[in-house]
Amino acid sequence: MGSWTMRDRPAAAFLALMISAAPLVGQSPNYGAGRPPTPQELREVGPAIAPDGSGLPEGSGTASAGRELFSANCARCHGEKGEGGVGPRLVGGQGSLSTARPVKTVGSFWPVATTVWDYIYRAMPFDQPGKLKPNEVYALVAYILDLNGIIGPNAVMDAKSLPKVKMPNRDGFVSDPRPHVGPKAASRK
Ligand code: HEC
Repeated sequence: MGSWTMRDRPAAAFLALMISAAPLVGQSPNYGAGRPPTPQELREVGPAIAPDGSGLPEGSGTASAGRELFSANCARCHGEKGEGGVGPRLVGGQGSLSTARPVKTVGSFWPVATTVWDYIYRAMPFDQPGKLKPNEVYALVAYILDLNGIIGPNAVMDAKSLPKVKMPNRDGFVSDPRPHVGPKAASRK
């Protein structure tokens, strides 16, 4: 595993998460495999963006800027209006989750808007991950949220406003009841 290319970033992110999560588990056995990521590798992976927005960088964008970016970078796989193609549908499906034919999209299923930012920044475009700048990702998220009717076309998305967006399925997930996972684990004495 010499130097990681952009293409390897999602894999690198997963590896870094696994490694950094290990101390929380406490008595992890040592299998003698793998190695800690270097500081450079951790920088390339970038911070994980939390639901409360911590980790989000400076920058901002609106749906109108996002429309052009989406058309140029995303529409060939996701359709001009996010209706889907070789890539999954990103728009619609609200109210369908508890029906016989649930349509899972960013708009209907994803509980937190900051995760959309994190995912696009790390993983999209599918064939060129790592090419988008923070301003572009804010604009693309704004466009997808606007297409879903979640925010208005002129709403400015940035590190402050994005965490405040209430996704339709925000309360559709149950919390993990296990005591050893989640934020409480880190503060346990
Ligand atoms: C070459 C085709 C391609 C391009 C270009 C592309 N995507 Fe994707 N996208 C995919 C595929 C395939 C998936 C599903 C990946 C998976 O599930 O592992 C996906 C998944 C997604 C998802 C998650 C959908 C869900 O509900 O799971 C989002 C959000 C997304 N893409 C946004 C974008 C944005 C924004 C752009 C433009 C910057 C973009 N994509 C460009 C193919 C593409």
